Amino acid sequence: LANINECDYPDIYPCYGHCRNTHGGYDCQCPLGFKGNASKPNGCEDIDEREHPEEYPCSGICTNIPGTFHCQCPDGTYRDPLMKQGCISATTTKKTFTGGGGHGVVYKGILDLQVVAINKSKIVVQREIDDFINEVAILSQINHRNVVKLIGCCLETEVLSLVYELISNGTLDHHLHFEGPMLLSWDDRTRIAHEVARALSYLHSSASMPIYHRDIKSSNILIDDNLTTKVSDFGASRYIPIDKTGLTTAVQGTIGYLDR
Ligand SMILES: *[C@@H]1O[C@H](CO)[C@@H](O)[C@H](O)[C@H]1NC(C)=O
Repeated sequence: LANINECDYPDIYPCYGHCRNTHGGYDCQCPLGFKGNASKPNGCEDIDEREHPEEYPCSGICTNIPGTFHCQCPDGTYRDPLMKQGCISATTTKKTFTGGGGHGVVYKGILDLQVVAINKSKIVVQREIDDFINEVAILSQINHRNVVKLIGCCLETEVLSLVYELISNGTLDHHLHFEGPMLLSWDDRTRIAHEVARALSYLHSSASMPIYHRDIKSSNILIDDNLTTKVSDFGASRYIPIDKTGLTTAVQGTIGYLDR
């Protein structure tokens, strides 16, 4: 007696889904994302995943597609829409410890088909103008994979703005201190620490003139989609001529707020 494979004889053993030989019988199942009777023509119907949130979680906007579903964070938020509370706000107000309060608001924009972050100053005070110009001067000198890239700036209008490559995965501060959908592994943490150290080492000793950031903290360290580190916010940084090293390198910020 030979075991026949029913799946080879659809005329006798009809199956309109996935047919599987089960030694002595056969099994006919609807494709993934469909339910019903696969032995009947048109017996499989699409599962509307939106009706089964426990099985198909989506904390963003859920769209049903034949065989699957699409889940997306609402406009202005990003991260992992498949996780509970996985969408977090993309517009973040920057914090500085310089005593002056908010440094500006960061917007997402599109410039020459590239997605960019635009840091727009809130109130134009001389100190802020100085910080922005300082940042342009410093960042335009730096080309390092672990330092955020400055694409352009607009210093002529009433509202100053700096345009950067968009680093869309939030700040290290956020990854470390907020209950997020994705916990950083220890491997990632040590790699991020190493990348920050590499960027600082470059700034201190490989740039044409040593640059001291002076405000390194986790909220100034951005993380991109590949969890690559990007040091940002050079508003407080300074060029230090080599013969003056040690003179004006005092750390900015409030003791107690600085990350250890
Ligand atoms: C599925 O459809 C086939 C063909 O119409 C029928 O013979 C079979 O009993 C159905 N199975 C179920 C579980 O309804």
